[in-house]
Amino acid sequence: MNRGAWVFVVSLLGLAGSWYGMVLYPQVQLGRQVETRTVPDGQLYPAARPGLAAQGREVYRSEGCYTCHSQQVRQEGFSVGVAVTQAGTNLTELVEAILAVAPQWERARVAHAVTNLPFQVLDGVAPDEAERARKLLESAGGATMLTVRPLGSDIDRGWGLRRSVAADYLWDRPVMLGSVRVGPDLANAGARLPDEQWLLVHLWDPQIHSPGSMMPPYRYLFEVRSAGEGEVSGALSLPEGRAPGPGQVVVPTDRARALVAYLRSLQATTSLFEAPVVLPSAGVATAGSDLGESGVQP
Ligand code: HEC
Repeated sequence: MNRGAWVFVVSLLGLAGSWYGMVLYPQVQLGRQVETRTVPDGQLYPAARPGLAAQGREVYRSEGCYTCHSQQVRQEGFSVGVAVTQAGTNLTELVEAILAVAPQWERARVAHAVTNLPFQVLDGVAPDEAERARKLLESAGGATMLTVRPLGSDIDRGWGLRRSVAADYLWDRPVMLGSVRVGPDLANAGARLPDEQWLLVHLWDPQIHSPGSMMPPYRYLFEVRSAGEGEVSGALSLPEGRAPGPGQVVVPTDRARALVAYLRSLQATTSLFEAPVVLPSAGVATAGSDLGESGVQP
């Protein structure tokens, strides 16, 4: 029997289905991404990477750093809470109000906290409970804020404040999400490791900061020069015994500097409408029955 027509129709459906699923649908979902606005200050996000960092992205790409490092932070939900950011005039009343909404706190701890604001009173509660607690605290004269803290194992590892969203990669072509995590996720490396020297030394010899590291050294991104008489400008300050030889210094090349500028530009901490982070600014102690003693530390 001649099934040519059937084979044709089934293949056509198969091809059309995969085109729809893999090309058209993602394009409709994400294809027309534009800059978004940050919450709450309404700035345009993201800004294009500055020139040197954009060059560094090409170094990152050509060195294949993405084979060991991902750039995507995952998140598994939110924890809503309430923080007191300013005390009113009546501290005693505020302490009572805090103890009323969060009886798990010790009185002495609360009395100390109201003089060291901000203070995360509740965390991990339902939004309406948080709203009720806010009303009560504000009637005692305190200024409060509703906090939104992203949760998840990547966030616990300190890899980011929130999940990565499509907008984070708007100006990156190609996007180097990475799929293997031999090393830590770098989506937020710039905020975590802002120190240029640290990053340069890490590229010269990862063993200096992490003995036993699996990360290969990128020595060819540096030049070894003899120190001569004076100081060589821009030379790395390596720990004792780590210089390549007596009287020799290590100077980063332009490629190393560009790569480090790129790493420092990797910052995805901005609070966005689709991925909000609302935390009181200073280092804050949290507590509460649900939370244990883990701190909210931006
Ligand atoms: C063979 C896998 C591998 C490759 C390739 C690699 N790394 Fe790493 N990297 C690691 C590991 C593992 C760590 C964890 C700390 C350590 O052991 O040094 C790390 C740590 C880092 C850190 C510190 C991150 C942190 O949070 O502490 C930075 C930055 C970094 N790598 C950048 C790079 C760059 C840039 C490249 C490309 C030039 C690169 N890595 C290539 C495996 C790799």
